[in-house]
Amino acid sequence: KKVVLAYSGGVDTSVCIPYLKEEWGVQEVITLAADLGQGDELEPIRQKALDSGASESLVVDAKAAFIRDYAFPAIQANALYENRYPLSTALARPLIAKLLVDAAAEYGADAVAHGCTGKGNDQVRFDVAIAALNPNLKVLAPAREWGMSREETIAYGERFGIPAPVKKSSPYSIDRNLLGRSIEAGPLEDPWNEPLEEIYLMTRAVEDTPNSPEYVEIGFEQGIPVSLDGQRLEPVELVSQLNERVGRHGVGRIDMIENRLVGIKSREIYEAPALLVLIDAHRDLESLTLTADVTQYKRGVEDTYSRLVYNGLWYSPLKAALDAFIAQTQARVSGTVRVKLFKGTAKVVGRRSSVSLYAPDLATYGAEDQFDHKAAEGFIYVWGLPTRVWAEKLRQG
Ligand code: ARG
Ligand code: SIN
Repeated sequence: KKVVLAYSGGVDTSVCIPYLKEEWGVQEVITLAADLGQGDELEPIRQKALDSGASESLVVDAKAAFIRDYAFPAIQANALYENRYPLSTALARPLIAKLLVDAAAEYGADAVAHGCTGKGNDQVRFDVAIAALNPNLKVLAPAREWGMSREETIAYGERFGIPAPVKKSSPYSIDRNLLGRSIEAGPLEDPWNEPLEEIYLMTRAVEDTPNSPEYVEIGFEQGIPVSLDGQRLEPVELVSQLNERVGRHGVGRIDMIENRLVGIKSREIYEAPALLVLIDAHRDLESLTLTADVTQYKRGVEDTYSRLVYNGLWYSPLKAALDAFIAQTQARVSGTVRVKLFKGTAKVVGRRSSVSLYAPDLATYGAEDQFDHKAAEGFIYVWGLPTRVWAEKLRQG
C-alpha cells in the first residue's frame, strides 16, 4: 500500500510516518508539505520527512493558488465565522486536500493521510474535501486513533530516530499561513486568562505601535484586491505587504470563544491583519456599489457561506451555488478604499468608485438637491398604510 501524507515537519506528522508503516502495514509513505506562506524553512522539512522514513518527500509552493482561489473568493463573500473569524486556517484545508488528491493520482497511491486529532474541525475539512474530490480514496488519520499522549508520541518517534523537539516545546498549538496565525491550548484554555504577548508574531502590541497614523489605499476590481496605494500587486505580494503594514499598527487580533463543528467550545486567538482589513474594505466598497436589496440579501448568503467553509463543505453543491450568487454580485464592486491605521484600529475613512451608485445630487442637503421632496408625502402615505390600519384597530380595542 502507498499513502500520501500531509506533512508539516512537526512531531505529530513525523510520527505518522513510522506509525503508518509499522502499525498499519503501509509500504510507502510519500509526504507532501504545502508552502502556504507559513514562513518555515522548507528544505529542512523536506529532509526531515526522508529521515523519518518517507520514501518520497514533496514540497509544493501553493501560495499563489491559496490567495487567488481560496482567500479572494472568501473576501468577496466577506466571510467571517460567527461574525469574527476570517477563516484563515479553514481556507487552507480544501487546498491541501486538493494537493493530496492530485499527488495520490500522480503517484498511484491507494490512500491519503493527515495528522489531525479527533477533536477538531481540521479533520472534518480534510476528510470531506478529499471525499468530494475523489470518493474512492481512503483517508487515514493515525493521530485520531493512536491514543498517545504528547509524551508517548515523542517517545514513539524517538524509537524511529525522530528527534524530540529541541526547545522546550511550546504549550500552544499554532497553525500559520500567509493569511494568519491560529493559536490555541496551554494557558489560553482558561478563557479568563489574557493572552501573553509572546504568542503574537504578525501584530504588534498597541503599546509599541507608531505614534502617527498611516493611510493605505486598497484598489479592488470586481471584488478582488489588486493594488495598494495605486501600485498593482500580485495577490501574494499584496497580502504580504498589507500584513506588514497593518500588523505594525497592532491591527488584526481576535480573541474569541468559538463553536467547533464537533460540538466543543474552544478559546481561539487569531491574528489575520491583512485579511481582516481586506474584508472590511471590501464590504465598505460594496456599500457604495451594490443596491440596498442585494447588499441585504447577501448578508444572509455570507453567513451561510462562512459556516459552510468552517464546517468543511468547501467542495459542496450549496457552496457552488452560493459562489455563483456571489460572483454575480461582484461585477461592479470596483474602486478604491482608503483605510487609516492607528493604534490598534483600522478605519475606512474614504471610498470612491467609477461605478458608484452614490448620487451626490440626490444625497446633498445643498442647493444642488435634485430629490423631489413633495414625492415623499405620497410614498409615506402608502408605506405607512398598514401601520395606520393596525393602530386604528388597536385604539378601538
Ligand atoms: N479553530 C480554528 C479553525 O477551526 C483554528 C484551527 C487551528 N488548527 C490547528 N491545528 N492549530 O479553523
Ligand atoms: C486539531 O484538533 O487537529 C486542531 C484543531 C482543529 O482542527 O480545530
